[in-house]
Amino acid sequence: MSAIKKEYKRITTNSLIEMKKHGEKISMLTAYDYTMAKIIDNAGVDVILVGDSASNVMAGHETTLPITLDQMIYHASSVVRASKRSLVVVDIPFGSYQSDSKEALRSAIRIMKESGAHAVKVEGGIEIDNALTRIINAGIPVMGHLGLTPQSIYQFGTYTVRAKEEAEAKKLIDDAKFLESKGCFAIVLEKIPAKLAKKVAEQLNIPIIGIGAGSHVDGQVLVTHDMVGMTHEFHPRFLRRYLNLYDDMSNAFEQYCKDVKSVDFPNEKEQY
Ligand code: KIV
Repeated sequence: MSAIKKEYKRITTNSLIEMKKHGEKISMLTAYDYTMAKIIDNAGVDVILVGDSASNVMAGHETTLPITLDQMIYHASSVVRASKRSLVVVDIPFGSYQSDSKEALRSAIRIMKESGAHAVKVEGGIEIDNALTRIINAGIPVMGHLGLTPQSIYQFGTYTVRAKEEAEAKKLIDDAKFLESKGCFAIVLEKIPAKLAKKVAEQLNIPIIGIGAGSHVDGQVLVTHDMVGMTHEFHPRFLRRYLNLYDDMSNAFEQYCKDVKSVDFPNEKEQY
């Protein structure tokens, strides 16, 4: 067990801010089910994100838009049951916080009450001011998300790097400062130039967690199924694959199929 693991019994939003102060990088991965979350939590990953990427990874949708609040709560409650140390943050899904701030608060409360999660994540800056105010005033910790925000993919029209132009970069910095001033405890910056992410991390006191935002931020997040190589059709530059599970699992399934057909499985020791 590492020194970090002993130091923080349960990671809280305050631990993350402390980590930034001490220059300790924050690790974050996604999980949507009990078994994966248990492995991630045991490995000492600081934050588990129940991302709305579950819409792609778990349900096979093209975007994150179709996943519902009920489905997010189902995934989140499975993850919470597995987690002993990691901070569990849950995405409020598309359509559950944008239309009015009371609905936003109801959605956040449902996530916290029904799943037992520790915080929620929302996408956007100044335009979600009212929703943010209500949720934070209710005592619910909020993580922000700026840059390539997948819930706005149809407005962007492309998954390419965001904020390369000066105007969008300036809005991103303003939005990040705004989120901090509202009381967000951390911000995810997705797929933006590393130089811009560095600038934001330097100017803010709350942790900046990057995905495709370079190394000069306060922590990193990846989609677990991508980093263990279970998905193999997705090759962004920022993704490091630590395993090649798609091939390993395919080989295992093929072998199992052969063993069943040849009656090699089960053998004498594998029966009663
Ligand atoms: O939904 C998700 O997995 C995310 C990460 C990519 C940050 O928001």
